[in-house]
Amino acid sequence: METTQLINAINQLKKEKNAVIMAHYYQTGDIQDIADHVGDSLALAQWAAKTDADIIVLCGVHFMGETAKILSPAKKVLVPDINAGCSLADSCPADAFEAFTKAHPDHTVISYVNTTAAVKALTDVVVTSTNAKKIVGMFPKDAKIIFGPDRNLGNYINSVTGRSMLLWDGACHVHEQFSVEKLVKLKAEHPGAEIIAHPECKKTVLVMADFIGSTQALLNYATASEKKSFLVATESGILHEMQKQNPDKEFIPVPPNDSTCACNECNFMRLNTLEKLYNCLLNETPEILIDEEIRVKAVKPILRMLEMS
Ligand code: 13P
Ligand code: SF4
Repeated sequence: METTQLINAINQLKKEKNAVIMAHYYQTGDIQDIADHVGDSLALAQWAAKTDADIIVLCGVHFMGETAKILSPAKKVLVPDINAGCSLADSCPADAFEAFTKAHPDHTVISYVNTTAAVKALTDVVVTSTNAKKIVGMFPKDAKIIFGPDRNLGNYINSVTGRSMLLWDGACHVHEQFSVEKLVKLKAEHPGAEIIAHPECKKTVLVMADFIGSTQALLNYATASEKKSFLVATESGILHEMQKQNPDKEFIPVPPNDSTCACNECNFMRLNTLEKLYNCLLNETPEILIDEEIRVKAVKPILRMLEMS
């Protein structure tokens, strides 16, 4: 099917089935453009919690589909490609994380939303990169906290909140890859550009940044800034919306270490295509299904996050 036909067919199916399409900013531009809602992890969770659609098509990665299903168990939650995982979520297996929490029974467990439902079921409060600083800051300075799974985000939150959370040693393969050397070179070529970075990046990149924030925060910052040029250290999918909202500004993706490519893409996010989105709406599969015992445990820390946000 041609792209225009695919778009028409998706819109038709969406209407017939009372479905809503939600997309993360790291999806390709064509998927972002057809989605009813485009946002970061927090926004996707908030929309999933209050939608009255019968079907949620979550164009993102698996844990985002799980979060939607945990919050809206009566709805059918579909993902265009069930293999769209997350290296960060994978870096934190539930059994090993459980052993870690059991070794520190007096600690509150705070988990980044980039985790499986099974890890969320072991968690006291979930956070996203948008609300992590605020939520961690709501705990007393001397509170004993375990934070997982992202060591870079954890270190960053420790530094801005003055906390000393115990960190799980996980990371995202995309955000860890940004090249400091190439960033220095780009900055020399564009001295007026501001460096904006996601807190999942390594400290060596974060120390160079003029602004650090979640996907949504980076977008808001670039839109509000008087600067005309930005070096963007996060997944390059966000450039689509940045450019759309700011046609007169220049957004340059920071390249990864060992690639000749000028951008940095999450191979999991990019598994989703317009064609797979069409097929998943048509056939109502692949569907996210979660064991009810795990879901009931996992929903508590997510609802706590939504209340504290
Ligand atoms: P956000 O919470 O900023 O949307 O980030 C999600 C993510 O997967 C970052 O890699
Ligand atoms: Fe996971 Fe990293 Fe991809 Fe985000 S960019 S979904 S953290 S692998």
